[in-house]
Amino acid sequence: MGTKVSMEEIVSLCKRRGFIFQSSDVYGGLQGIYDYGPLGVELKNNLRNAWWRAMVYERDDIEGLDSSILTHRLTLKYSGHEETFTDPMSDCRDCNHRMRSDHIIDGKCDNCGSINLTPPRQFNLMFKTNFGPVEDGSSFAYLRPETAQGIFVNFKNVLDSTSRKLPFGVAQVGKSFRNEVTPRNFIFRVREFEQMELEFFVEPGTDEEWHSRWVDNRIKWWVRQGLARENLHIFHQPKEELSHYSKATVDILYNFPHGQEELEGIANRTDYDLGSHSKSQQELNLFAKVKPNTNSTTNLAIQDLEKKQMVVPYVIEPSAGLDRGVLAVLVEAFTKEQLPTGERIVLRLKPHLSPIKVAIVPLARNNEKIVNKAKEIKQELLKLGLGRIKYEDIGNVGKAYRRHDEVGTPFCVTVDFDTFEGDKETVTVRYRDSMQQDRIAVTDLPSFFREQFAQALLS
Ligand code: GAP
Repeated sequence: MGTKVSMEEIVSLCKRRGFIFQSSDVYGGLQGIYDYGPLGVELKNNLRNAWWRAMVYERDDIEGLDSSILTHRLTLKYSGHEETFTDPMSDCRDCNHRMRSDHIIDGKCDNCGSINLTPPRQFNLMFKTNFGPVEDGSSFAYLRPETAQGIFVNFKNVLDSTSRKLPFGVAQVGKSFRNEVTPRNFIFRVREFEQMELEFFVEPGTDEEWHSRWVDNRIKWWVRQGLARENLHIFHQPKEELSHYSKATVDILYNFPHGQEELEGIANRTDYDLGSHSKSQQELNLFAKVKPNTNSTTNLAIQDLEKKQMVVPYVIEPSAGLDRGVLAVLVEAFTKEQLPTGERIVLRLKPHLSPIKVAIVPLARNNEKIVNKAKEIKQELLKLGLGRIKYEDIGNVGKAYRRHDEVGTPFCVTVDFDTFEGDKETVTVRYRDSMQQDRIAVTDLPSFFREQFAQALLS
């Protein structure tokens, strides 16, 4: 289902219905940067919340964190990013087009086809910004290129404040920034994006087992978000492609419209990061007041009570792109159906991800009784805490259904003249996927929807 849609269809739906817009559109756009519109922000929040729920609420071995975007220069020096977070870049001498050397096909410029290209040179992807009032370049901070480092440098703070024992994890969702040489494929490769990252600290020696457990866990989570298992693939990164910190990385790939590409990476980062930040502290003598320790890596370490020694944990890191996740669930959900009345586009999102949970449609928008009842139902359903319940004042029931099919609203409730007939007030509930319609008592609506959404979460 997911692979049949083109990127153009997704981009067009996103703009038409208010999911995603090119940033700074009125000034010609900012390349590789996108804004989330009224429905996009809901979808993105819902996917982020589903991840947070699975990581922090459903488990008892993970804490949450929200560290800063602006990052100390030394954090990214000792993490290895200053030296190694680079992409090879080439320029076309004929048209001045700049491209990633490892993306060049047959030695030709992907803009004009020329073979007159410069040799590759390394380009650091981190954004720098001036720090403080003096703009002479002497004081700067980086915009973080991954959220992970904020977790590593807070390791001791989290440990001291929660008294955790191994294994345990710290989860974080937030913006990351990379000055990608060639941003492309809509929100797939952008310069400002959100990551959902878990750093799971384990005892050395148990890391390989935890690595495969997390790969398994993450695949299952993506399937719970509605991605078909056959559209997900596991890819073991070859040794020569591993990041500087990784002993082994498994990528989860998805069948995006532009090909099978990375949705999430699950790395075994060993004790690389905690070890380097500990060594840096000794080198810099930042903790001069603390009694020097004979073991150079004990600052960001945890006490092993049995062995009576300090241990630097190994780290398993499932790192997913939230924007890539949004793209994947949109691609998977996008469906075109031929009906006797014409084509219908329906976004078969899992209900917990749908931007609008229920649309309440008054059949006649000039009829005070109908309008008031529709508004009253909206207020009642809001109390369930399901998310956005929209009073849909479009004035045409057929149009309202089509619009809500296209944006993935799982249910529409229509208030009509029959609502007030009989001894109980009733409304029509229409299901997005089957288009079936049921007559339901107004008083039964809260329990009906509570049940529907609870069931959908389990499926
Ligand atoms: N902390 C590990 C790390 O950052 P990564 O493979 O570079 O690893 C993890 O990034 C995830 O972040 C990727 O799988 C992808 O989903 C997302 N990501 C990375 N660069 C991105 C970009 N330029 N645009 C959108 N998402 C990106």
